[in-house]
Amino acid sequence: MPETVLVTGGAGFIGSHTCVELLAHGYEVIVVDNHVNSSPHALERIAKTAGRPLTAAYRVDVRDRAALAQVFASHQVDAVIHFAAHKAVGESVALPVEYYDTNVGGTCALLSVMREHGVHRLVFSSSCSVYGDAQTMPLTELSPVAPTNPYAHTKLMCERILEDVCDHLVEMKVLALRYFNPVGAHPGGLLGEDPRGVPDNVMPYVAQVAVGRREVLSVFGDDYPTPDGTGVRDYIHVMDVAEGHRVAVEHLDDRTGMRVFNLGTGTGTSVLQLVAAFGEASGRPVPYRIVDRRPGDVAELVADPSAVAAAWDWTTTRDLDAMCRDAWRFQERNPHGYAR
Ligand code: UD1
Repeated sequence: MPETVLVTGGAGFIGSHTCVELLAHGYEVIVVDNHVNSSPHALERIAKTAGRPLTAAYRVDVRDRAALAQVFASHQVDAVIHFAAHKAVGESVALPVEYYDTNVGGTCALLSVMREHGVHRLVFSSSCSVYGDAQTMPLTELSPVAPTNPYAHTKLMCERILEDVCDHLVEMKVLALRYFNPVGAHPGGLLGEDPRGVPDNVMPYVAQVAVGRREVLSVFGDDYPTPDGTGVRDYIHVMDVAEGHRVAVEHLDDRTGMRVFNLGTGTGTSVLQLVAAFGEASGRPVPYRIVDRRPGDVAELVADPSAVAAAWDWTTTRDLDAMCRDAWRFQERNPHGYAR
C-alpha cells in the first residue's frame, strides 16, 4: 500500500481537499504546485484543517523536469496524484498552445521523471468534458468520447498517452478519474474554491453573488431540452471527489494497467435548481437573469457512477444541500477568498 503520495496541483481546489483527506488517513503528503492558479495560503490551511502538516511543499512547475527530479530524489514517493493543469474551457479556446503545453507536456514530464525514479502508481485527473455533447444519459465509461474544446482534448490526449505507457511498461498502475462538476468546500470553512478574477463556473459565481461581491448571476440559456430549460449537470461535493482519490490510491494495486472511472453522483441538477438550493442553504436569495446560451455549453451531463461503486464498494454521500451549505460557509468566512 502506498504510504507517501506526491500531489501535483496540491494547492488547487480539488488538490487541497484531497491533501486533507490523505493526511486524515495517515498518508505522508508532498505537494508540488507552481501557484499560477492557486494560493500558497491554501497550504497552511490544509495543515490546519487536517491537524497534521504536509511532509513537504515545493513551488515547482511540473514541466520543469530537473526541479521535479530533485523532488523525487529527496523523497521515497509511492504514488502520484496528478492534478496540476489548466482547466478553463473558454480560456483553452483562446490559449490552445498553453493548454497543450501545460496539460499534455506536464503529464509527459511527470511520467518520465516517475519512470526515472521507479514510481509506477498514478491517479490522473480527467474530466467528463471528454464525452462532449453526448446524446444518451447517463454517461458510462464506455460512452463515446468526443471532446469539443482544447481543454477536453488535452484530457483525452493524456488518457491516451497513459494507455500507451501502460501497454509499454507492464508495471504501471494508472487510474484516470473523469470528474463531473466538483463544487462545495471542506465543512471546516478554511478551504474552498477561490478562483482568480471573474469565476467561470456557476457555483463560485452564485456564492459571490450571495455574499454581495457580484450583483446578479447570468443564467446561460433557458431554452435547452431540459425540464426547466437550463443546463443540467452532475454536481459532486469536493469532499466526495477527495475521498474518491484516497480510495483510488488504496485500489491502485488491485491490478496493473490503465483503468478509467467516472466520478459523479448520478443526479442531474439544473442551474435554476442550484440557484434555489443555494438561496435556501445560505438564507440569501440569489438574483439572476436569463441571458443567451454560452457558446460550447451542452444541455446535460450526468454520470452513471455504478462502475466505481462496483469496483471499490464506494459511493458519494453528500447531497446538493451539503454542497451549497459548505460552499456558502467558505464564502461567508472568506468573502475575498484566500489572502493573496
Ligand atoms: C466545465 C467543463 C468541465 C470543467 C469545468 C471546470 C465542459 C462540458 N465541462 O464544466 O470539464 O472541468 O468546466 O472548469 O466543458 N452557468 C450559468 N452561469 C454562469 C456559469 C455557468 O448559467 O455564470 C451554467 C452553464 O451554462 C452550465 C452550468 O451552469 O449549464 C455549469 O457550468 P460550469 O460551472 O461552467 O461547468 P461546466 O461548463 O459544466
